[in-house]
Amino acid sequence: MPEENGINFEKHFKELSAFIESRIMSFVPSAQKEYGIIEEAMKYSLESGGKRVRPMLVLEFCRILGGDINEAMAFAAGVEFIHTYSLIHDDLPCMDNDDFRRGKPSSHKKFGEASALLAGDALLTHAFSCLASFSSDWEKTAKAVKVLSDFAGINGMIGGQIVDMSGEEKSLNIDELFLMDKLKTSALIKSACVLGCIAAGRYDVIPSAEKFGENLGLAFQIIDDILDFLEGESSSDIVSGKSTYVSLLGMEKAGKTADEYTDKALAVLDSIDADTEFLKEFAVKLLKRNA
Ligand code: IPE
Ligand code: IPE
Ligand code: MG
Ligand code: MG
Ligand code: MG
Repeated sequence: MPEENGINFEKHFKELSAFIESRIMSFVPSAQKEYGIIEEAMKYSLESGGKRVRPMLVLEFCRILGGDINEAMAFAAGVEFIHTYSLIHDDLPCMDNDDFRRGKPSSHKKFGEASALLAGDALLTHAFSCLASFSSDWEKTAKAVKVLSDFAGINGMIGGQIVDMSGEEKSLNIDELFLMDKLKTSALIKSACVLGCIAAGRYDVIPSAEKFGENLGLAFQIIDDILDFLEGESSSDIVSGKSTYVSLLGMEKAGKTADEYTDKALAVLDSIDADTEFLKEFAVKLLKRNA
């Protein structure tokens, strides 16, 4: 990998991953033994091999804008807790009804539906406690709470999940699919980029961070649909016959569309006056991922 601007991609990626892994579990609150099962379920999903895309975006935006990643870890944990809860609920029988997540039994298969539901609720609630543990500046913390709740809520990720569920009743057209994915996937990815700006106190970069996150998120979801399609019968979204980029555009055009959104995301990075080299390679790595 090139070392332009002094960043070796693989080395920095490993360091960021190791940093996140060394810190993230310390944000899980300990529960009394009567309801220890929920703590266990929260940890099970947090530790089961997620790619940590969102915390990496928080930390890297913070770093390149001159902030302190030790502090920003509180925001990185908050967004990963929201993401983890969203996956537990997404897998439930009333949603996608998936028995497996990351090759392991999904939360409700391991702990039962009620415990999975509650573990998701606990992660969601505690995400805001993570944000509140950001130490240096209450104004930043308040802004972070507003951003994460807006992007994860009804006009963000939840809105997208509702449009997704409506796709079980009627097939969505391509415009509805873009709307759905801007909400269900881009919104949280956007929030991660914005939280990094807030941690660094660089509010001026938020509009660019949002644009980058939106385009990266769309490329990310198109690839997720392609990977789901390649999984075939083991993917519930394929079995249920929901519209996806692959079903509406075909494999080749879906792949090209993911390339186009990645290019748009890279162009936004060029407009940011900071060392965006790692973020560029990260966007390309996500486009080429196989899981
Ligand atoms: C999966 O997200 C759900 C989508 C929004 C496509 P990730 O692919 O980031 O999930 P993990 O945490 O790495 O498993
Ligand atoms: C999940 O989308 C999006 C959220 C959980 C918000 P998918 O349903 O496509 O994700 P996978 O394929 O189950 O990971
Ligand atoms: Mg889903
Ligand atoms: Mg799903
Ligand atoms: Mg999917």
